Amino acid sequence: MSDKKPVFKPNKEFAKNAAIKNMCEYHELQDKAMEDYEGYWGDAAKEKIDWIEPFTNVLDESKAPFVKWFDGGKLNVAQQCIDRHLDTRKNKAAIIFEGDRGDVQTITYLDLYKNVNRFANLLKEDFGVKKGDRVVIYMPMIPEAAYAMLACARIGAIHSIVFGGFSAEALRDRIDDAEAKVVITADGAFRKEKPYMLKPVVDAALEGKTPVKKVLVVERNHEDVEWVAGRDYSYNELIKDKSAVCEAEVMDAEDPLFLLYTSGSTGKPKGVQHNSAGYILWAQMTMEWVFDVKENDTYWCTADVGWITGHTYIVYGPLAMGATTVMFEGVITFPDAGRPWAMVENHRINQFYTAPTAIRVLHKMGEEEPAKYDMSSLKVLGTVGEPIDPPAWKWYYEEVGQNKCAIVDTYWQTETGGHIVSPLPGATPIKPACATLPLPGIMAEILDPATGERAEVGETGYMCVTRPWPSQIRGVWGDEERYVKSYFGDVKKDGKPVYFTGDGAVYDEDGYITITGRTDDVINVSGHRMGTAEVEAAIKKHANVAEVAVVGKPHPLKGEGIFAYIVLKADEGVADEVEEVKAINNIIKKEIGNIALCDDMIFAPGLPKTRSGKIMRRILRSIAKGEAITQDISTLEDPSVVAKIETMVKG
Ligand code: WTA
Repeated sequence: MSDKKPVFKPNKEFAKNAAIKNMCEYHELQDKAMEDYEGYWGDAAKEKIDWIEPFTNVLDESKAPFVKWFDGGKLNVAQQCIDRHLDTRKNKAAIIFEGDRGDVQTITYLDLYKNVNRFANLLKEDFGVKKGDRVVIYMPMIPEAAYAMLACARIGAIHSIVFGGFSAEALRDRIDDAEAKVVITADGAFRKEKPYMLKPVVDAALEGKTPVKKVLVVERNHEDVEWVAGRDYSYNELIKDKSAVCEAEVMDAEDPLFLLYTSGSTGKPKGVQHNSAGYILWAQMTMEWVFDVKENDTYWCTADVGWITGHTYIVYGPLAMGATTVMFEGVITFPDAGRPWAMVENHRINQFYTAPTAIRVLHKMGEEEPAKYDMSSLKVLGTVGEPIDPPAWKWYYEEVGQNKCAIVDTYWQTETGGHIVSPLPGATPIKPACATLPLPGIMAEILDPATGERAEVGETGYMCVTRPWPSQIRGVWGDEERYVKSYFGDVKKDGKPVYFTGDGAVYDEDGYITITGRTDDVINVSGHRMGTAEVEAAIKKHANVAEVAVVGKPHPLKGEGIFAYIVLKADEGVADEVEEVKAINNIIKKEIGNIALCDDMIFAPGLPKTRSGKIMRRILRSIAKGEAITQDISTLEDPSVVAKIETMVKG
């Protein structure tokens, strides 16, 4: 595995003023954390957070893996993101919003303060939302989505954002699991200049029994939607008479801030819980270090607030540090693949953060587009969500970054709250498609799962974090056991369970970390996490389906595509394959959403199973990839099925 990657040194001019200027500074921080872990984090928390009351204890591991950070401390995350900036930044842009149709709105920190307070008052006064209540947010990328999040934080309600691409069923599952009493949505948004509707999905999700009492609808595209009397209310109407002053709820450091549902290898998506102080601390620190945002910079992350990247690096991180964050409603390839670069020119964007899948699409559709725009403002380019392939990296570095920007390949997950392995743009010599080194304070290590020892150079091991860190997941909502089992069951170091990410990774000769991908049954489709179990459960709802196994298959644009092997019930057979595929895809659309549609479906005569009935997914993965089968298949219940499926797939 020693195909040496070229090394790119940090830009010297840039490094002079960077938050972390060189590797000596990096190592000093890392050493301090190693020598005095609690001192390191305690100092950071004292320096970065505006506490209402100071904490009395840094880290409580007595009930590990359930941990507490900054016990006794009191704060309010909305105040950390807004109020504390008013003295020095009230007229600075907090959010620059660009709509699908090119409409631009600049929201200053003072505007944000007023809008969030009005929103908070509305939730309290009209909807009776109280501290600890769960509020589901199903919104397009409009500023009101950020106001809604911060309004919840201000009054101590726990938000749970559901990505706008999820179906009514998926939304219902998440609402029910969180027992949310309020849903905040919009009539719809604009997408490629056409209305894209959300409210009808909410209506469908709330049919029948539901814990939801009230729905707040932001009127964005002003299309006709149904209004259920006594349940649905217009934000645009209710907000008019609300006071712009709202006292912030005093929150404990460990009070929950939000839930975000994410896919695991088994069962339904789990509600990942993040709490207040630790999360906001690391969101802010990584924002400052990894993107190196300066006072007058404009930063743009293209994610959606429905994913963790949108939470930490569109809303909480940038606002906590007092930065200007861009929010974009549209599609990055509309009206053409020059859209993001036109936005870079127009807003003079300094840091740009996106996913490899977007880079591949922009590269393919508009290789020459960056050259048509003034990209000179760019300093740092970020990537996240999946391993980036070297050709995409090269284009990003050379054409988008004009050979002068640092590329930060940020590795992290919903559960880590913020980056855990990433280059620092002024310090770390970078290598293409390599997440490089753990951030200072994060004890991220690749371990050999069998021995718990550090993996040898070139040997793929398990990406773990061996000590708790402030922004780590605090629990799976309503399921303590699942939290322990999902993250602390697989790897032990010195006999103690450590946090395992679910990813494989490998060290190179410089100790740099390259992420190799998931080791479990999670597929990464266009940077979106998808559990094979969820997709299988959806397909099984089709009356003719007897058995199904879903695996990931490399896809040139999406990173991974979804490949489904389906066994139909004996007497049904495949009358009309095209119709059957359509019907199954419709079910997936209904149960999960378009993001889970299968790229390939094979109607197989059977599945490769062990004699005890376990489906051998590894074999199916190999077949999907067109690889030779190296596993021993002689012990299968019916070895002949492998050759039959192989022939079908090749055909
Ligand atoms: C993958 C997204 C390689 C990984 C922030 C992880 C990456 C999953 C990278 C989390 C990266 C994220 N290089 N793989 N830089 N960043 N991943 O929870 O498999 O949506 O476990 O969080 O994305 O996805 P999630």
